Amino acid sequence: MIKIHQNYPLKQSNSFGLESTASIYIETDDSSELINELKNNTIDISNPLFLGTGSNIVLSTPVVGTVIHATNKEITVLEESRDSVLIKCGAGMDWDEFVKWTVSKNYGGLENLSLIPGSVGAAPIQNIGAYGTEAAICVESVVAIDFASARKFSLTREECHFGYRDSQFKRPESKYWMVWEVIFLLEKDPRVNLSYKPLKEFFPPEYRPDIREIREAVIKIRSSKLPDPAVFGNAGSFFKNPVVSACQAGLMKEKYPDIPTYYHNPGTVKIPAGWLIETCGWKGLRRGQVGIYPKQALVIVNYGGATADEIISLANEIQESVKTEFGIKLEMEVRIV
Ligand code: EPU
Repeated sequence: MIKIHQNYPLKQSNSFGLESTASIYIETDDSSELINELKNNTIDISNPLFLGTGSNIVLSTPVVGTVIHATNKEITVLEESRDSVLIKCGAGMDWDEFVKWTVSKNYGGLENLSLIPGSVGAAPIQNIGAYGTEAAICVESVVAIDFASARKFSLTREECHFGYRDSQFKRPESKYWMVWEVIFLLEKDPRVNLSYKPLKEFFPPEYRPDIREIREAVIKIRSSKLPDPAVFGNAGSFFKNPVVSACQAGLMKEKYPDIPTYYHNPGTVKIPAGWLIETCGWKGLRRGQVGIYPKQALVIVNYGGATADEIISLANEIQESVKTEFGIKLEMEVRIV
């Protein structure tokens, strides 16, 4: 079914809790009906905004263009072998509800991504990642709807061109693609992933947790570090962790011996943006109704009533200060609309 709303309030539809409206807001769980509407040209698709739960977005007021929100939440087991299971999930499903379901079935692969805010449909777009893994590792394919040609099509994992917080869905040529379903390949005899040090250290040495225990641990670690959007509006990491050459990192280590670095690709390392921002003195700082979360400098928080402009201007100041101190341009992870 398709529901079309006019002048729809978006405050509840973005995790920053920003006041905004959509002149046209469409919600649907029926791809055939949606495709028919597209074929009949009844939807203005000149500037579509595909919105999940709005957990990675800064919304300006009002949103120009049509907002489309998928509400299909069906989980279907497509194939099962001795070792693995292929599962299709509707884009409108809450991500953590889906992870909870996979863990309850003892299907392994997504447990380290517990409690990430957002929808299943948004997961492949920015290739959500945390605690030593990322969605791309388990995504087998993605079913999308192309609004320009009014057709449904499928992309393999390779065609999704996944990278660090990146995918084909972020490219300009994919502007009219709406993620409709995601197909995941999960393990029936799960191998746990304890590669993220604080997660490993959560358990006694030599202890081998199962995926239920991993999920519980990730939920505890996440909740201790990151603000709950229901309490303080935020969009998780505001910036990506920058990737620099191993050579540049080596030079930085001479001045800052404690700088944490993580292997990225051969010859490059990732530097935690949170460390760069904290070292520039921003952590915990508050400007009116916006601020930098005191426990994680990568997160910008709306303390209530903040505007998109206030958030963006604080983010710009942070970028400038990190550039001046370290010569590194922080790239925003959130999408500004
Ligand atoms: N750090 C600081 N100061 C801070 C924050 C971090 O010095 O204020 C240092 C920590 O001490 C640690 C390092 O930075 O040495 C890494 O910190 P953390 O493990 O908290 O992870 P992160 O790199 O800051 C990334 C993801 C998070 C994800 C965590 C855990 C990005 C942009 N962010 O953060 O993802 O939860 O790893 O895996 O890659 C998100 O994308 O919204 C998100 C929260």
